[in-house]
Amino acid sequence: MKPIAAPFPITRFRRARQSQAIRGLVRETVLTVDDLIWPVFVRDGEGIEEPVPSMPGVLRRSVDRIAQAAAEAQALGIPAICLFPYTDPSQKTEDCAEAWSADNLSNRATRAIKAVAPEIAVMTDVALDPYNINGHDGYVVDGEIVNDETVEALTRMALAQAEAGADIIGPSDMMDGRIGAIRQALEGAGHCNVMILSYAAKYASAFYGPFRDAVGASGALTGDKNTYQMDPANSDEAMRLIARDLNEGADMVMVKPGMPYLDICRRAKDMFGAPTYAYQVSGEYAMIRAAAQNGWVDGEKTMLESLMSFKRAGCDGVLTYFAPEVARILQG
Ligand code: PBG
Repeated sequence: MKPIAAPFPITRFRRARQSQAIRGLVRETVLTVDDLIWPVFVRDGEGIEEPVPSMPGVLRRSVDRIAQAAAEAQALGIPAICLFPYTDPSQKTEDCAEAWSADNLSNRATRAIKAVAPEIAVMTDVALDPYNINGHDGYVVDGEIVNDETVEALTRMALAQAEAGADIIGPSDMMDGRIGAIRQALEGAGHCNVMILSYAAKYASAFYGPFRDAVGASGALTGDKNTYQMDPANSDEAMRLIARDLNEGADMVMVKPGMPYLDICRRAKDMFGAPTYAYQVSGEYAMIRAAAQNGWVDGEKTMLESLMSFKRAGCDGVLTYFAPEVARILQG
């Protein structure tokens, strides 16, 4: 046999990139519509679709328009919608009672979606911030965000959401012990099929800025959330939180924000093998949109690449404001 001349590379990785067909054959990760959870903002009124200035392309919708959007999402094959209420300041109180009212915005939206788009899984957010006069996820007593009293309120809130027909409860509050308390309460009330997607590794992040505008909580928030949300410097702690929440009965776990925390996603998936989701949060969305609007990046390609990165990092799905747009692209 004639020896191969030394200068020729033996392994040519570019062979596997030579055409669309070959690239498709060797592709390791796919992004599909099944991976998408669409977060939406609900507000009072009727026939209203109001733009969120800090999130171009995102709307606050009244309940009737949410139902309409859900029907469209169902037609696109989007599996789940996640509801966030924009609460009128007049409904924010110290005891946050609106949070577990059967007829609050979120619960009305859940029922409206179920009526027109029964195949969509409805996910609801558990945290007191939309209803709290001080914008915190928990009760504030003498300047301290108190844990156990908050967990009681969160449990009531989750039960009201399950009663309204929510399929997935998403505690995003970061209090200790809330997953176990909610799981027990759901079981006790006969909601054994209602799932819990725990925001297990939720960081105290500056990337939530535009969201707080969207739900009208920016003006209300006093201080920061550093005593309950995680320090961005920590990774082992995220693994311990995920272990704890899975033990307490979480069915799925979340890492939030997304792109700056892909290492956490990968570690979580490798360590626990549980259904793992990332939240591509408002600030991540706004950055991509703003750069695209300025012509600095290709909006569509950047969006798709960012979502693929979550899949590559081991996530089973992504909460993303891009969901309907991506679904349309993926459906061809
Ligand atoms: C609050 C909550 C936040 C988000 C979801 N639920 C903000 C916060 O913790 O202050 C952020 C979502 C986003 O930025 O897109 N419970």
